[in-house]
Amino acid sequence: MELLKEIEKRRSIRAFEDGDISDEEVQALIDAARFAPSWANTQCWEFIAVKDAEGKKKLAEALPPKNPARNAVECAPLDIIVCGKKGISGAKKGEYVTELGEWLLFDCGIATQNICLQAYSMGLGSVIVGYFDSGKVREAMGVPPELEVVCLIPIGKPKKVPDAPKRKEIDEILHREKF
Ligand SMILES: Cc1cc2nc3c(=O)[nH]c(=O)nc-3n(C[C@H](O)[C@H](O)[C@H](O)COP(=O)(O)O)c2cc1C
Repeated sequence: MELLKEIEKRRSIRAFEDGDISDEEVQALIDAARFAPSWANTQCWEFIAVKDAEGKKKLAEALPPKNPARNAVECAPLDIIVCGKKGISGAKKGEYVTELGEWLLFDCGIATQNICLQAYSMGLGSVIVGYFDSGKVREAMGVPPELEVVCLIPIGKPKKVPDAPKRKEIDEILHREKF
């Protein structure tokens, strides 16, 4: 497998076939996440795997009606919720040490992409969902206050694979030697 080709081919999938995702598949997805790099190896992430229809419906209700992934959250065989423990990523002895402060989103983002790429390599589609009411997800899923709800990832066999949205060209984003 040439990694760049696979990275290029992965798409956000918002329509899924019916069917189950096995516990072994869930384990493989979380295995990919836990091998992601993180700030000083703090691994601030925790995950919730939701297969139950009632749980998925509650999650979907946390998305604004116009979010194109709302149906995906409700109908995917599996939703993974990515959470991050606050106050440790980017910090030393309880103080953030860079101007950017908390690095929780960054670390959880890398873990999230690992999940999506692992899903893709298993023939599964996924979409990262960041536009939702985190308070509703927190309440529905019992997420404790010391964790941030970062994103949702509906996962399943793709029903429809959309065309690739256009990317910026390398020359638009790469500055050689100096900005
Ligand atoms: C942080 C983040 C949040 C996103 N939130 C949503 C979302 O709420 N709803 C949605 O339909 N897609 C969401 N997406 C998916 C993007 O729209 C998608 O990745 C982008 O259009 C590029 O398409 P591609 O993933 O097929 O290459 C999100 C992606 C990221 C990285």
